[in-house]
Amino acid sequence: MRKIIITIDGFSSCGKSTLAQQLARKLNYVFIDSGAMYRAITLFFLRNHVDWNNSEEVVKALEQINLDFHYNLETGKSEMVMNGEDVEYLIRDMLVAEKVSEVAAVKEVREFAVKEQRKMGKKKGIVMDGRDIGTTVFPKAELKIFMVADPVIRVERRYREMLEKNPNVLLEEVKDNLQMRDYIDSNREFSPLRQAKDAFVLDNSKLTTEEQLKIALKLAKEKIATVEEAI
Ligand code: CDP
Repeated sequence: MRKIIITIDGFSSCGKSTLAQQLARKLNYVFIDSGAMYRAITLFFLRNHVDWNNSEEVVKALEQINLDFHYNLETGKSEMVMNGEDVEYLIRDMLVAEKVSEVAAVKEVREFAVKEQRKMGKKKGIVMDGRDIGTTVFPKAELKIFMVADPVIRVERRYREMLEKNPNVLLEEVKDNLQMRDYIDSNREFSPLRQAKDAFVLDNSKLTTEEQLKIALKLAKEKIATVEEAI
């Protein structure tokens, strides 16, 4: 079967990664969490005291970063690997969440990440989620989904998720972080978060993960059929 590129963009905690992962599994595609890449870069900068406002320092640091995804057979999830180290757990920490949007707004960081993301999509057959995937990374993607959800629900979802790892996390802290990231992501100079004109908007405020998967799968199958008919 012909393979396509599927992009899933949207604000923080809309459930993009959950859908992207499930969709990839169903279609036997590769799932790529582009946000994990920005989070890993942020972790590297924090650990190595890289000043991301200094482009010379940023360029030097990026030369030392190698990003990869490993599929964990036990959990069935793909994990972020940076320079051979599995950083999947660490990059979800609030310390990273607090800085990631600042780092992701840096021009050199975006160029580096986008280049890597395009390489990953060369053979198609991928589902990539993020902020600018349908607009900047793969503007010609066959299927673009833009996810939205009620802000209150988004905060609750992320709070529950973070609580599992850290019982001391506060709801207010999570809410402030999401609001701040949404603002920076939408207002930055280089490839801000925007809905692509040809994206299908999926509001999952009242949908279960099974329901949203069903909708997305239908869209994907229709697109794949169209692509096959065209050849
Ligand atoms: O999972 P969550 O929605 O909280 O965010 P994420 O997908 O892990 O992305 C973390 C941060 O990376 C975002 O808040 C953006 O600042 C940045 N990002 C981006 O700029 N472009 C992307 N394609 C993906 C993420």
